[in-house]
Amino acid sequence: MSGGETGSTGDETPLIVQEVAPRDGLQIEPAFVDTADKVALIDALSATGFSRIEATSFVSPRAVPALRDAAEVLARITRRPGTLYVALVPNLKGAERALAARADELNLVMSASETHNRANMGLTREASLDGFARIVAAARGGGVRLNATVATAFGCPFEGAQPPERVLGLVERYRALGIDGITLADTTGMANPRQVGDLVARALRLVPVEALTLHFHNTRGLGLANVLAARAAGARRFDAALGGLGGCPFAPGATGNICTEDLVSMAHEMGIPTGLDLDGLITLSRGLPALVGHPVPGQVAQAGRPGDLHPPPPGIAA
Ligand code: COA
Ligand code: ZN
Repeated sequence: MSGGETGSTGDETPLIVQEVAPRDGLQIEPAFVDTADKVALIDALSATGFSRIEATSFVSPRAVPALRDAAEVLARITRRPGTLYVALVPNLKGAERALAARADELNLVMSASETHNRANMGLTREASLDGFARIVAAARGGGVRLNATVATAFGCPFEGAQPPERVLGLVERYRALGIDGITLADTTGMANPRQVGDLVARALRLVPVEALTLHFHNTRGLGLANVLAARAAGARRFDAALGGLGGCPFAPGATGNICTEDLVSMAHEMGIPTGLDLDGLITLSRGLPALVGHPVPGQVAQAGRPGDLHPPPPGIAA
């Protein structure tokens, strides 16, 4: 029997997985996924038990045509009680569109790296921060939650390593603006576990544990190792994408997020609860190649769960 089935020998502190495939996963797909298919995917993800689903982004449709149907997606999904539907926004215009579409949470994004911020958002970091202040003012009193992401927090594909002081300085600026939730994002999978442990420990001196999310990409195969390092340093919340879809269209070499069902399988095998329906996630992930038109990187959906045993060869007793 696997540790996931006994659930008794592991660390009982839950690991909170936040699904980002509908946004980070689909933003980089070359073929447009029909609105009805996006809505069906989000509704099916809701049924597996997520507390947060990043459903779309309100960015320029010229920059990210794949998500040009953001408002329609939010209008058509079935909102499950207990799930927050998050929208990524780059600027005030995006925030106004997301508020009109009744997003539960706005995820404001800018980069630690000036070069990536200009490539991704067409803005200097100071201009992004000015925009964030306007978004906070526009959102005030409306009941919407605010999260802000530091992209390229563990390294930039143009500039390389980012000083931790720069990343933590942005975290302090976000908090001073009145933004509660903070995400540290490894946009192109440059982080290593030691670096992650150090930065998470320092971030947790500035941000309460329930407000901190880690967002890893598996570009160099270290995604789940980085999760365990972040957890050992105290982090509890992680973004992940079904099937390991994902990537930033404005970061050279970007590839998928850590894979939701691989992360959930690891957690359950270790006796760490997630509250998510792993079988449901695997079934959904197996439908992704037909949706996006190519194989996806997730491994558990291909290999099966560790406990999915095979019949012994003929003539050999089980
Ligand atoms: N949603 C929709 N349209 C927007 C918009 C938004 N959030 N922000 C700006 N626009 C429109 C403007 O109205 C303007 O339209 P017009 O040409 O019809 O008048 C046009 O886009 C250009 O506006 P401008 O302010 O000059 O923006 P820009 O061209 O410098 O682009 C961003 C800035 C931030 C909108 C763009 O770079 C962007 O959407 N980036 C997001 C990239 C992304 O999603 N990356 C992955 C996730 S991290
Ligand atoms: Zn990402």
